Amino acid sequence: MQLAVIGTGYVGLVTGAGLAELNHTVTCMDIDEQKIQALQQGKVPIHEPGLPQLVAKHLGKRLFFTTSLEDAVKSAQAVFLALPTPPDPTGRANTRAIFQVAEQLTRYLKPGTLVITKSTVPVGTTERIAELFQEKNANLHVVANPEFLREGKAVHDFLHPDRIVIGVQSETARNQMQQIYAEFARQGVPILFMDWRSAELTKYAANAYLATRISFINEIARIAEAWSADIEAIRQGIGLDPRIGTHYLYPSLGYGGSCLPKDVKALIWTARDANVTPHLLQAVDTVNHTQRQHFLEKILRWWHNHPSIPRILAIWGAAFKANTDDIREAPILELIPRLLEEGFTLRIHDPVALPNLQKVFGNHQPNLHYIKDMYEALNNACALLIHTEWQIYREANLTEIRKRLRYPVIFDGRNLFPLDQIQKLQFTYFGVGRQWVPATH
Ligand SMILES: NC(=O)c1ccc[n+]([C@@H]2O[C@H](COP(=O)([O-])OP(=O)(O)OC[C@H]3O[C@@H](n4cnc5c(N)ncnc54)[C@H](O)[C@@H]3O)[C@@H](O)[C@H]2O)c1
Repeated sequence: MQLAVIGTGYVGLVTGAGLAELNHTVTCMDIDEQKIQALQQGKVPIHEPGLPQLVAKHLGKRLFFTTSLEDAVKSAQAVFLALPTPPDPTGRANTRAIFQVAEQLTRYLKPGTLVITKSTVPVGTTERIAELFQEKNANLHVVANPEFLREGKAVHDFLHPDRIVIGVQSETARNQMQQIYAEFARQGVPILFMDWRSAELTKYAANAYLATRISFINEIARIAEAWSADIEAIRQGIGLDPRIGTHYLYPSLGYGGSCLPKDVKALIWTARDANVTPHLLQAVDTVNHTQRQHFLEKILRWWHNHPSIPRILAIWGAAFKANTDDIREAPILELIPRLLEEGFTLRIHDPVALPNLQKVFGNHQPNLHYIKDMYEALNNACALLIHTEWQIYREANLTEIRKRLRYPVIFDGRNLFPLDQIQKLQFTYFGVGRQWVPATH
């Protein structure tokens, strides 16, 4: 089929390239001219494993890029909206871009075309788009088709979905969606048709549940810490129960990224708007905020107890998780300003996310150094803070870390290192829900 994707960010680009792989002809549109120019030359502006190869495979054959909405959609049979829905200052999802584009589409689309929201949109949005089309006398079908891909595994997730959720309210739309995803149906992927509101709410419920698991394990980690128990043992002890499972049960500095924080907040508003008090969701959000604060306090307390040690800290990782360059809502964005305020010099490394960090903090902060080599970041530093669970950090040579740091102190926000090795090398080690301090310290 002839398809268009509007918004060529993490979701839009993966969706566009993925749909091309499913044998559709796809034009991706974005208002960001630089991004589109780069993509037209085959340069993928985000770090996503497998994406450059997929784009290169289809570019100019079944995959096209443009900044013109009209060109992108004029001969499309279906248009996917992969536009941002960022939080407004109160935490509600801002759907301005969706409605702006929906209105423009009424000028360009042929009657009968499908308009599909891939973006995460609050309950009722699809209905409001349908109302807008009616007001404009545009005979268009609206579909809610939320995306569940994970950054860092986005290509794999798009091409091998666990399920596809589709909110439709017309037989025509249902048939067309079946055609778009015919290849997945052939592979036996469950395709769940439901009403618009249920589809919209499914997406929020999925993310809120994942966030709940993270906040849950982080709260247990704090209890473990207070009782000198080891959260890693506890995590395995509960995760091996098949009713619980091990996914999304890793203690950390709290969840970040462009989805979980904003989607939990937006769902809180969705509940409140319907006069439901979201007790659990509010707690999930609160635990997440305090988690970063709690870890920061550990760092500050240690330095408070060692006032003669220079405040020079190496940081490994800026991305909100491994395998992505995305730093949106990453804990580091809160930690860096607080640590700088507290007089720290920071030497930070990340394999791919430093350019995005530089965009936020600039190049002229005298005490913030972006370091290209992970071991070089340790030079002259008095402790190491681990922020992101990149595999290269997990496999790091602890002896080399010990040799380079001026003091053998690790604040491990991801519990990357086995305690027996930490003990053997006599590190002072503060993890999340576990710690080890040699007797002499
Ligand atoms: N990132 C994820 O992991 C993920 C996963 C599932 C769902 N989602 C949802 O998908 C949506 C998009 O997220 P994203 O991470 O891809 O965002 P993004 O910020 O990476 O991409 C959005 C793109 O839309 C473009 N854009 C903005 N206004 C536009 C307009 N008027 N016309 C054309 N293009 C415009 C921007 O330039 C940008 O390139 C959000 O609702 C998000 O919640 C994201």
